[in-house]
Amino acid sequence: MKLATVSQPGGLDQLKITDGPEPGEPGPGEVRVRIHANSLNFHDYAVVAGAIPTADGRIPMADGAGVVEATGTHVSEFKVGDHVVSTFFPQWENGPAPIDNFTTTPGDGIDGYAREYVVTPASYFTLAPKGFSHAQAATLTTAGLTAWRALVVNGGLKAGDTVLTLGTGGVSIFALQFAKMMGARVISTSSSDDKLERLSALGADHTINYKTTPSWGQRVLELTNGRGVDLVIEVGGPGTLPESIDAVCIGGHISLIGILTGRSGDVPTAKLMAKQARLQGLIVGSRAHQQEMIRAIEANGLQPMIDRSFPLDEIADAFRYEESGKHFGKICLEF
Ligand SMILES: NC(=O)c1ccc[n+]([C@@H]2O[C@H](COP(=O)([O-])OP(=O)(O)OC[C@H]3O[C@@H](n4cnc5c(N)ncnc54)[C@H](OP(=O)(O)O)[C@@H]3O)[C@@H](O)[C@H]2O)c1
Repeated sequence: MKLATVSQPGGLDQLKITDGPEPGEPGPGEVRVRIHANSLNFHDYAVVAGAIPTADGRIPMADGAGVVEATGTHVSEFKVGDHVVSTFFPQWENGPAPIDNFTTTPGDGIDGYAREYVVTPASYFTLAPKGFSHAQAATLTTAGLTAWRALVVNGGLKAGDTVLTLGTGGVSIFALQFAKMMGARVISTSSSDDKLERLSALGADHTINYKTTPSWGQRVLELTNGRGVDLVIEVGGPGTLPESIDAVCIGGHISLIGILTGRSGDVPTAKLMAKQARLQGLIVGSRAHQQEMIRAIEANGLQPMIDRSFPLDEIADAFRYEESGKHFGKICLEF
């Protein structure tokens, strides 16, 4: 079978397409899945680019979607022919987060889904939304579930709330879509005026160019009559958090998700305290969260925003495209 690997010390030129052994038969509790699509995330980029050290020869990609080809004994949840999508934390079924690292995450601590076949415990997958393409399903594992957990599970989003999203990457576009689906107002930022138009077309109520309006937190306050937003999808980290604290309302919620501007830095803690806002870090979510999200997607007909798909052979080009920052929403591999 065809698969991609990344050799150490990493780097996009270290991504190789090779032939691996054909998959065996699934054992008790296992399924064999023909993977047809992956989606790219910033985390996958950090792994293949060498910013996150991983094992030599690691198969990258956390997000995989495909078709169940065979089931072992004691598998009752899936049948042959089911369309399925992988989970980010295969061992986190439900309840509070049991893990604060990526040792069990496919494409980082264990082999991922840039391969045609995988044999895993059935619990590594959930059913995909009915009617979704494999590429659409593959967008859900990381970006979709992170946005869902931030807004709905942790943020307690209600109709009428106002949500702030930063930039136009996979997590932020999903957050915009889920927030509109749930009846919220959305303020979205981007560095590109063209992308701001696309955000409006997707339903953003207000948009701000964060390059030409560096004090975008103040602009958010103006747009909300001085109140601020209920929820912030904070994908930037230290470089954006001070503005996000300006933008959040008293008693609001900031979901600390990303590291686009770095891993540590100065935070105006006194202002956060005065705002009496919650700052909650999170990493993706549980298998149960994924099933709840998929139920909501099926009930509402949400369609993931896919910018572009590449074949598996062009995985390095796909990451170069992500690196360029030209994308709006998700980039996928289809094979
Ligand atoms: N904690 C978690 O569970 C979790 C899960 C998924 C992702 N993440 C993190 O969330 C971040 C985004 O991930 P992603 O996969 O959605 O990335 P992505 O698809 O590669 O998106 C990157 C986008 O972020 C925007 N951006 C870059 N610098 C920015 C800044 N200073 N302010 C505002 N927006 C900025 C850009 O949008 P414009 O081109 O519109 O400016 C860029 O296109 C990453 O740090 C990633 O590691 C965390």
